[in-house]
Amino acid sequence: MKMMPLERRGISNSRLVLGCMGLGGSWNSADPVTSSHIRQAEEAVEAALSIGITMYDHADIYKRGKAESVFGQVLKQQPRLREQIVIQSKVGIHLSDGILPQRYNFSKGHILHSVDGILERLGTQYLDVLLLHRPDPLMEPDEIAEAFTMLKLTGKVRNFGVSNMSPGQIRFLQSALPDPFVVNQLEMSLLRHHWVDPGILHINQKADLKDSFPEGLMEFMQMENIQIQAWGPLSQGRFSGKESDNATEAEMKTAALVQQIADENETTPEAIVLAWLMKHPACIQPVIGTVNPKRIIACKDAARQAEIMTREQWYTLLVSARGVNMP
Ligand SMILES: NC(=O)c1ccc[n+]([C@@H]2O[C@H](COP(=O)([O-])OP(=O)(O)OC[C@H]3O[C@@H](n4cnc5c(N)ncnc54)[C@H](OP(=O)(O)O)[C@@H]3O)[C@@H](O)[C@H]2O)c1
Repeated sequence: MKMMPLERRGISNSRLVLGCMGLGGSWNSADPVTSSHIRQAEEAVEAALSIGITMYDHADIYKRGKAESVFGQVLKQQPRLREQIVIQSKVGIHLSDGILPQRYNFSKGHILHSVDGILERLGTQYLDVLLLHRPDPLMEPDEIAEAFTMLKLTGKVRNFGVSNMSPGQIRFLQSALPDPFVVNQLEMSLLRHHWVDPGILHINQKADLKDSFPEGLMEFMQMENIQIQAWGPLSQGRFSGKESDNATEAEMKTAALVQQIADENETTPEAIVLAWLMKHPACIQPVIGTVNPKRIIACKDAARQAEIMTREQWYTLLVSARGVNMP
């Protein structure tokens, strides 16, 4: 099996990441964390560990900090767990407080303050990976470099990465940073399949690109050994059993095709939709957002399915999801 960029750097060999945005109850900060939220987190982590998931994705904003708080409770109850897993979190988004709008903030002060909050909520001394969540148009590489240098020197963060960024933005920030970025996390799935488009539609094609995936992103990440992580990889269940009143014809056909391949291979539809991403030579690492233990376990076979998925199956799924033939 080909090594993932994070594996080559000795950071993680977890083929899947458990996305923790679903933990911690509601997004309303007035709703307290309850014992049932903590139990939900314990069960999700237990299910994830049982299928070999050792990497966990957070952000300071998830459930306005409550996702990290409940995860911190799980770590408190199982102190040896911290050294067995890789924890990633993100900074840089201010959620709206009802007065000011949602906005981004990559200032040194905000980054340092946010990381302290993350470490306190998780009850850990360090983060394995810190990502800048969404590009801040006001970002200044030198200021970010100062923050990252302090975080590295104080042992609070071991590795840095980004999310939702283009090659140009990564090159811009990287120019001031001593350490290479190790991750770029992007929305990618059979529903959000547009990351394939720039590679096939930019030359001699009249087709409009429906989505804003920058040209050369997939190639750049591979050349720079940056781990591509896919958020939203299950498409919220659209191709793996979730009922929907507004599914398009292409989506319905694709869901049926996913089920057919799953049946033929005696596996789950979750494994097939994840395998479709993981078959790509970039060794995409899906960040699954389910916190339902049964659904987490349904993802177990994804890496094996990626190994055995044929080119024909991969393209058939792509064409079905696109709803139009390849040029
Ligand atoms: N970097 C970014 O900007 C960014 C943005 C968003 C998310 N993320 C990260 O990526 C992770 C995954 O994102 P995501 O949650 O959007 O994506 P996802 O993995 O595609 O979807 C997970 C959601 O879909 C539901 N779901 C999945 N299969 C289902 C089915 N068959 N029937 C009913 N519901 C089903 C899950 O509910 P159950 O829990 O009930 O299974 C869960 O709410 C997040 O947890 C977070 O860590 C990052």
